[in-house]
Amino acid sequence: MNLQIKPGFLFPTQFWSVELNENIEQLINEAYLIRKNDIEGVRKSNSGFQGYHSKDIRDLKNLPGTNQLLKQIINAVNAIHQTSRQGELQLTNFWINISGKGSSNTPHTHSGLTYSGVFFIKVPKEMKGGRFLFYRNFNEADFISTEYMGHFKEGYKLQGYDYPINTISPKENMLVVFPAWVPHAVEINLSDEERISLSFNFKLNRSFSMVK
Ligand SMILES: [Fe+2]
Repeated sequence: MNLQIKPGFLFPTQFWSVELNENIEQLINEAYLIRKNDIEGVRKSNSGFQGYHSKDIRDLKNLPGTNQLLKQIINAVNAIHQTSRQGELQLTNFWINISGKGSSNTPHTHSGLTYSGVFFIKVPKEMKGGRFLFYRNFNEADFISTEYMGHFKEGYKLQGYDYPINTISPKENMLVVFPAWVPHAVEINLSDEERISLSFNFKLNRSFSMVK
């Protein structure tokens, strides 16, 4: 009997990437200035002795390159949102990560917000590790699904939906935006050079109309 099998997708997840044209050298200098003025930073998803995560940046007075970058990010994320939805977004917070050898970011989400993203400021010339990872689902990613689903057939060409983890190789001047609930992480940087990025969150600017 010839079975009529119709495959479908339950929940494909969109993400977006945008190539910007920012002054990378200036942004690198400003990232080191941010670290110099806030040497302690904070400990969040960053792990490893040489993983620096700044506090939320509040003052852009001496950071003209970062200020310019944020304007571009605000434009891009609003354009992404408005391809299918209405309303203005609000940048809620942003910070930088400077990841030395051996540092990484463990899987997490930014749930409760609308969009999150990352802009790659500095990528090691000979990058080893340090890729950006998206997880379809925390539980599935933990045990790699072969244990439950079996191995793929020989010669089968893997599709995006076959992977529990999808990776993005960072490139300087590349902006990546994704829904804030998507679990993500950064692989251990195995290069001798540092990897620098700026991350951010946006939420929908909800306006209320009061009943009179
Ligand atoms: Fe994150």
